[in-house]
Amino acid sequence: MRILGIESSCDETGVALVETAAPAAPPSLPRLLAHALHSQIEMHQAYGGVVPELASRDHIRRVLPLTTRVLKEAACSLKDVDVVAYTRGPGLAGALLVGSGVACALAAALGKPVLGVHHLEGHLLSPFLSADPPQFPFVALLVSGGHTQLMRVDGVGRYELMGESIDDAAGEAFDKSAKLMGLPYPGGPGLAQLAEQGDPAAYKLPRPLLHSSNFDFSFAGLKTAVLTQSQKLGPAVQQEGSTIRADLAASTQAAIVEVLLKKSMAALKHTGLQRLVVAGGVGANRELRRQLNTACAKAGVRVHYPELHLCTDNGAMIAMAAAMRLDAGRQQAEYRYSFDVKPRWPLDSLV
Ligand code: KG4
Ligand code: ZN
Repeated sequence: MRILGIESSCDETGVALVETAAPAAPPSLPRLLAHALHSQIEMHQAYGGVVPELASRDHIRRVLPLTTRVLKEAACSLKDVDVVAYTRGPGLAGALLVGSGVACALAAALGKPVLGVHHLEGHLLSPFLSADPPQFPFVALLVSGGHTQLMRVDGVGRYELMGESIDDAAGEAFDKSAKLMGLPYPGGPGLAQLAEQGDPAAYKLPRPLLHSSNFDFSFAGLKTAVLTQSQKLGPAVQQEGSTIRADLAASTQAAIVEVLLKKSMAALKHTGLQRLVVAGGVGANRELRRQLNTACAKAGVRVHYPELHLCTDNGAMIAMAAAMRLDAGRQQAEYRYSFDVKPRWPLDSLV
């Protein structure tokens, strides 16, 4: 069975085609046949953040040409698509409506069923597209631009929320701190790059909720501390090539990474599980990966990540999540003409 996946929840339009094993074949993971992505980052940079209306309009422009590209790359045609999957939420309502509208119209025209996917489930299952896929059960650290969560994952659709951010997400902490340092949106990758030349111990920044007895996170206080520190340090904080700027970037990254690391290790210890999956945009952070790899090796824990290029939003993870839900019998694709989106949608409410 071939599943076309469409992602349009924020500022990336992603389309992909995956193939599941034939029912008679031995069970195996779905296979990615092709995927294509258009990032709107450059367009939003002029405004310092995502402009929802511009995001929706751009998704409209991109989604069909990307679909054509994916089908061509996979040497398939629309007739070969058995199910059309799309991101149903969470995300920007207008942006989600583009993907869901196109997916449902396409499916109706082809006489094929549709399947709405939870964006975070896409991130969560994206490591199954890697060369070293995980096995259930595992602890998942979900670190995207809008969410920071620790989940216990026992199978497809079997998600138990252990803790989450009570205010800003880790990605937001990266992006807002980066903005203070004069870096363009989204600042996470830029801050990480800058941090490589800095001293992570240069400035003492708070590690919110590090020693709390639960698995919740809080990053709003850290952002305020970075702001206060920036004001003390003056214009050098935004100067290209300044040591102060690199040191502040490294200190900020160190604070975020330490909290994510300690909480993940505590969640592993609490559950007794020996496997960690890291997913979402911040999962691309090299320092986070380096520290998690070291700590997990010491604790005898296997750690899995998505391929670097599939850490941030993409269509492959949406097609993959749909395929895995179908394979696991958690959901059936539906024949319908109507569609809806869920801009707010808790992951642990999935079944
Ligand atoms: O998962 P994602 O693409 O979007 C959401 O679903 O929200 O994550 C985007 C987030 C942004 O905050 C971005 O700055 C951050 O991931 N990010 C990084 C890195 N690459 C992306 N943060 C730190 N280091 C990176 N290398
Ligand atoms: Zn995302």
